[in-house]
Amino acid sequence: MFPTGFVWGAATSAYQIEGGLSADGRGTSIWDSFCRQEGRIVGGDHAETAIDHYNRYRDDVKLMADLGLTAYRFSVSWPRIQPDGSGAYNAKGLDFYKRLVDELLSYGIDPWLTLYHWDLPQALEDAGGWPARDTSKRFADFAATVHAELSDRVRNWSTVNEPWCSAFLGYASGEHAPGRREPAAALRAAHHLNLAHGLAVQAMRAQNAGSQIGGCVNLYPVTPATASEADQDAARRIDGLQNRFFLDALLKGAYPEDVLADLSHISDMSFIQDGDLAAIGAPLDMLLVNYYSRFTVSGAPGGAVSAAAAPTDSGSPWIGSEHVGFVNAGRPVTAMGWEVDDSGLYETLRRLADEYPRVPLYISENGAAYDDVFGEDGTVHDPDRVAYIEAHLRTCHAAIESGVPLQGYFAWSLMDNFEWAWGYGKRFGLVYVDYETQARTMKSSALWYADTIRHGGLLG
Ligand code: NOJ
Repeated sequence: MFPTGFVWGAATSAYQIEGGLSADGRGTSIWDSFCRQEGRIVGGDHAETAIDHYNRYRDDVKLMADLGLTAYRFSVSWPRIQPDGSGAYNAKGLDFYKRLVDELLSYGIDPWLTLYHWDLPQALEDAGGWPARDTSKRFADFAATVHAELSDRVRNWSTVNEPWCSAFLGYASGEHAPGRREPAAALRAAHHLNLAHGLAVQAMRAQNAGSQIGGCVNLYPVTPATASEADQDAARRIDGLQNRFFLDALLKGAYPEDVLADLSHISDMSFIQDGDLAAIGAPLDMLLVNYYSRFTVSGAPGGAVSAAAAPTDSGSPWIGSEHVGFVNAGRPVTAMGWEVDDSGLYETLRRLADEYPRVPLYISENGAAYDDVFGEDGTVHDPDRVAYIEAHLRTCHAAIESGVPLQGYFAWSLMDNFEWAWGYGKRFGLVYVDYETQARTMKSSALWYADTIRHGGLLG
């Protein structure tokens, strides 16, 4: 059994589910522009309608209630609320989230709000995007306004979802919007995403609303392929850029020296100003961790692939480590090609408890894409996803037993949705979505998860 009060959730993000890209005064985001560029998204998919959550949110909340979720993690769309990313706010956009939150609360589902899940207003990208320091300040203003409007009914807040992806997939490999391949700019982006987090935390704290505030990182344990010096150095580098660059900044208020040294030929980091790291490292109420897989790496030249194994032509996000190869360690893989390894989650949680201040932890995303088939009998059987989630939940339980302050779990994702550069081909949902009719059908994993929640964690 999991501890009483353990949070049982599922997660989504605005751009991946809402659609309604031009509804009610929403502005344009970098993903709108990116999807319009040829060759960026598999099959030319786009999120114009996505899964129409903007219009179907009431039915979707009802689904969550049927599942027995105690919490729902979602993001707000910046361009829906502030179309140009600075200046005027759009009341209709804010109203949508107020209605969503009220609907959640009416079922007793705790809303967990993420302020930034990758849909930067295009106007801010036109002004330089995340490599420009001003974007962090714009984000803090935005966070302050959303917090002022919604903190009466939302208690749990997180700032930037997976800053690694926004910085390095967005500005180094170009797999994600805005699709730039500028390593030095990617480093500036990474710092400014961290700074945006820090300034937003400050702005929200100043409102004294009693909110629980956290950052959200995607972590991977990194294992050297062999004990050779080259492989161990590769592991140190990838761990540095993927994990420590963000963890040390958020939880220790410092960037790791070895990582700065690895990157010194790309940038002298002179954009880091006095006081930045103090703001970035201000105490948090919780850390949100997205966990999917483990990396095994070799220092032998072989060319890097990204975590998302880019579906379209792109550069490497692993700046400074272009010589590192990602090795297939022979574990079963999901439809994304990601190795299934729940022991990596245990390792990640233990590491957080051992090496970082004992901040309360939440798994804010965990799940798997599989090639689900809608059966003739109207059901969707996804035993692989059940096995994946069950194994990872057992690991969570073991970590808690070992003393890790883990307080909740959010499955990614509540419903099938727009999987960024992969489009709609990769299904992560507990709930199957027919993209023609928008019909929602609970997969076996949804029914299993509902059962698990009802029993406080099935761990027989
Ligand atoms: C991380 C991201 O936060 C989410 O948007 C994405 O769909 C999942 N991982 C799966 O790739």
